[in-house]
Amino acid sequence: MFAKYFAAFSVFCLVFRYTYGATDTVVCYYANWAIYRPDKGVFHASDIDPNLCTIINYAFMGVYPNGTLQILDAWGDIELGNIAGVQALKEINPNLKTIISIGGWNAGNAILSPIAVSPELRANLIASSLEFFDLYGFDGLDIDWEYPEAKDKENFVTLLNELKTAFQPGGYLLTIAVSAIPIDDAYDIPQMSANVDLINLMTYDFHIAGGGITGENSPLYWGGADSPWQKEFENCNSTVVNWVDRGADPTKLTIGVPFYGHTFQLADPSNHGLGAPASDAGMSGPYTKGYGIMGFNEVAFLLRVSQVPVQMLSCFADL
Ligand SMILES: *[C@@H]1O[C@H](CO)[C@@H](O)[C@H](O)[C@H]1NC(C)=O
Ligand SMILES: *[C@@H]1O[C@H](CO)[C@@H](O)[C@H](O)[C@H]1NC(C)=O
Repeated sequence: MFAKYFAAFSVFCLVFRYTYGATDTVVCYYANWAIYRPDKGVFHASDIDPNLCTIINYAFMGVYPNGTLQILDAWGDIELGNIAGVQALKEINPNLKTIISIGGWNAGNAILSPIAVSPELRANLIASSLEFFDLYGFDGLDIDWEYPEAKDKENFVTLLNELKTAFQPGGYLLTIAVSAIPIDDAYDIPQMSANVDLINLMTYDFHIAGGGITGENSPLYWGGADSPWQKEFENCNSTVVNWVDRGADPTKLTIGVPFYGHTFQLADPSNHGLGAPASDAGMSGPYTKGYGIMGFNEVAFLLRVSQVPVQMLSCFADL
């Protein structure tokens, strides 16, 4: 069940110094804005080792209210050659697939909901996707709808079914990124599963600043009732079990592996273990600059240059 991995490259992409061919599905999210990071944080498509990934999700492209796909950053995507750089990785790994990701946290529900409900707008999205595959060399579409609501439940399946039907002749892939904890009101899991190639489980951000205590980003298992900082269903194992129990095809599930950590501002610096009271987000990474987030590259730097408390190391064992 855990044979497939979905590496969240949205904050950082890890490059190994050795290469090996990935043999199962490894989905790597590439954040197109990483090219603008300062100094050593800058990250280009050519920095990705394409033998580590079987699929690269190009995040994000936008969608116009009429359903047509939108290049959000023409300067980076086209002029600076970010899309071309990703496609060029296929020269190194000819089996690599590249996928357009739409949606994401910032897009929210507002864009996709009106498209999913309208036959005309769904047709526009389908036609536009096929056009983008042709124009830019992509091999599929990833829908990262955060999040559908009860009113969207049937429309989401209709959208996926129509996309799948339109993509099949060309062999294009259709994938979705979904909430780790199934949203029963909005997810028709058997139907979603039947219509997509992959379901990328967002098995991360289980503990973030704002939760009031420190906790692991992406625990594999629940530590049991004596782990008060963890909730029973907020770990990778129970996420997978829940999705399978609700009718997802296990062979289509990928688990999300975050290559970043969350930081916390401790209420009391002398109490710094898991479950310690935390008032706010801690430091941001100097390159990624996300609120309460540090990329693996930034954490690795801290580990090298400073005395890092042992419990911090144990958290990173979970990454
Ligand atoms: C959708 O809107 C965009 C932006 O206004 C426009 O470029 C595109 O042609 C429209 N697509 C259709 C199918 O009308
Ligand atoms: C995995 O999760 C399921 C469902 O929450 C649970 O029943 C099972 O005991 C868990 N397995 C382990 C090894 O913790």
